[in-house]
Amino acid sequence: MKLPLPPLPAALQPKPKRPGESEHVKPVEQLKEAGIATVDWIDERTSLSQPTRWIMFRKIPKGTNWFYTLGSATLFAFLSQAVTGVFLAMYYDPSVTNAYESTRHITNDVFLGEFVRGMHKWGSTVMVILVCLHMARTFFFGAYKYPRELNWVIGVVLLILTFVMSFTGYLLPFDQRSYWATIVGVNINGTGPLAGPFLSDFLRGGAEFGSTTLSRFYSIHMLLIPGAIFALIGAHLYLVTKLGTTAPPWLKAEGSDGLREERV
Ligand code: HEM
Repeated sequence: MKLPLPPLPAALQPKPKRPGESEHVKPVEQLKEAGIATVDWIDERTSLSQPTRWIMFRKIPKGTNWFYTLGSATLFAFLSQAVTGVFLAMYYDPSVTNAYESTRHITNDVFLGEFVRGMHKWGSTVMVILVCLHMARTFFFGAYKYPRELNWVIGVVLLILTFVMSFTGYLLPFDQRSYWATIVGVNINGTGPLAGPFLSDFLRGGAEFGSTTLSRFYSIHMLLIPGAIFALIGAHLYLVTKLGTTAPPWLKAEGSDGLREERV
């Protein structure tokens, strides 16, 4: 004799239909369900939703305004530089005989080469402007004070590294302008007290400006500094998430009879 099947657990039983609900599930709904199921599958195995929620859902102070987007704008400029830089590196040749020719080839022959090179060139200027504006915002809003001093110091290193990126990138097209401008820049570095002469020797890769200088600038520009910037941005954003952002200074004074309230 065939025994009756045990009832399904409640969670697996189909939901009762609402009045007027049709049998047919829309493809969009199916797609949404598939998306949710995939995310759930990954989350069950990695618990990645916890750190994501920690980063994404934070309390932000009253009065947060457009000036607070300058840090994210700088981050976007950096990412754009990283992506366009990867494509340029596919065609660029860092040798004294071929560097100029390879950049000319990128501009004139490669599909979208002029566009990508232009984005990288203008993007570098945009990043420098944005990082300075972001620093000015944090300075004028007093965000460098306790407990954010370490984040300010990390920011200063990021600022210097951004300048080093511009300086080392300028030589890479290896045309007359970039060649002579870099010689001037390296010589200026050499005038610094104590470390100056060592620094200019290090940048040149010896006493003479030549092929070692170009490959040295290239490796600093596309490996060393981007790696350091990437790691420091990670530390910078960790501290922003942990400490929260500073309220605008004019709001702090409000409602406290002229006395500033300390934020913990
Ligand atoms: C690659 C360069 C940089 C990136 C990508 C970056 C990114 C960010 C982001 C996304 C934030 C949070 C949102 C905001 O307040 O705008 C932030 C906050 C902050 N940044 Fe930067 N930053 C950079 C450079 C700098 C520099 C040069 C300084 C100063 C010397 C600095 C100091 C700070 C401080 C103190 C905060 C906390 C702001 C607050 O508490 O209100 N950052 N940064």
